[in-house]
Amino acid sequence: MKGRAVSFFSDAIGRIQPSPTIAVTAKARELKAAGLDVIGLGAGEPDFDTPDNIKEAAIKAIRDGQTKYTDVDGTKELKEAICGKFARENGLTYKPDQITVNCGGKHTIFNAMMATVNPGDEVIIPAPYWVSYPDIIQLCGGTPVIVEATIATRFKMTADQLEAAITNRTKWLIFNSPSNPSGAAYTYDEIKALTDVLLRHPHVWVFSDDIYEHLVYDGFKFHTPAQVEPGLYDRTLTMNGVAKAYAMTGWRIGYGGGPVPLIKAIAKMQSQSTSNPSSISQAATVAALNGPQHFIAERNAIFKDRRDLVVSMLNQAKGMSCPTPEGAFYVYPSCAGMIGKTTPTGLTLHNDADVANYLLEAEGVAVVFGAAFGLSPHFRISYATSTEALEEACRRIQRACGALS
Ligand SMILES: Cc1ncc(COP(=O)(O)O)c(C=O)c1O
Repeated sequence: MKGRAVSFFSDAIGRIQPSPTIAVTAKARELKAAGLDVIGLGAGEPDFDTPDNIKEAAIKAIRDGQTKYTDVDGTKELKEAICGKFARENGLTYKPDQITVNCGGKHTIFNAMMATVNPGDEVIIPAPYWVSYPDIIQLCGGTPVIVEATIATRFKMTADQLEAAITNRTKWLIFNSPSNPSGAAYTYDEIKALTDVLLRHPHVWVFSDDIYEHLVYDGFKFHTPAQVEPGLYDRTLTMNGVAKAYAMTGWRIGYGGGPVPLIKAIAKMQSQSTSNPSSISQAATVAALNGPQHFIAERNAIFKDRRDLVVSMLNQAKGMSCPTPEGAFYVYPSCAGMIGKTTPTGLTLHNDADVANYLLEAEGVAVVFGAAFGLSPHFRISYATSTEALEEACRRIQRACGALS
């Protein structure tokens, strides 16, 4: 290959970026370690610990010798527990051979896209979106088709927008409710409006990312597309996981329920990459799904109070506007009123990345800028952190907003 500069790295790796949310968390940690007074609001994980009964189940699994390879896409016990969960909580009937268990919800998405997306295939992603969706699609050579769901529709894609985005190359719609980063959750009627569109386009599949299912407030009732429209059951992968509701981010278990040929294709993909998810984490997940669930409501009460605190304090900050989201543990305020303003050190804020930098440098508050999620000018705050830290962070944001001219 003399005379021609050939990159050692693949084209695929060149198409993607490192996760910006992980980058913000790492930067906040670094500044903190250097002795700065930084409040990190970037991380997408509960500050609560994994419940004790789940930890005990894992310890027992180790003691009982459940320390070997398992079936590639999940143990029989776990698949049965997942079928039970889908029936009980979502009114969805799946048999164990319709279930796939993977190394985190992110891995379920990754496997499903790797198993189905060809170059030229389009995948519809409503923005603001979870940062990994477009990158995973691009890794597969597919084309993300971004549909902006703005603050005007409370960050929810409308039926007309979906209809307009569908082409004969559309393979999937990625649906995420409650949403990361906006916290927006679709009602039954809002989902029905979208599934009615999808019924008219039988070549489009639905990937429903339900990982924030249990984190909803004010009596909001969660629904998932295959439940709202049984006509989509045969072309939906209903994904979920234990990371968020069970505070098990480090255990790395995600799962999906869907048509057998897709589940088999995912198993084939997984058999040549990670093999089974950790045997111990699988045993812990059985305990999570089959065990007591009361702590979820207890923790949600705390999350709800924090959400209300943050929304109220942000709405009192000059130049900001923050809708009250239905779920997850994020808020996604608009910082439109800060753009074009000048900081006390003389810098002009041109976009939401500038705003996030200003908040970090002037006040030591780490948030993730909206461009990372495909919808500007906004930023994301994760309120999965102590109430005291949130209160102090919002006070600092108010001060930073007030100091602009
Ligand atoms: C919308 C969404 N889907 C999936 C995931 C992945 O979760 P897991 O930790 O199970 O891979 C996350 C995690 O941040 C998320 O926010």
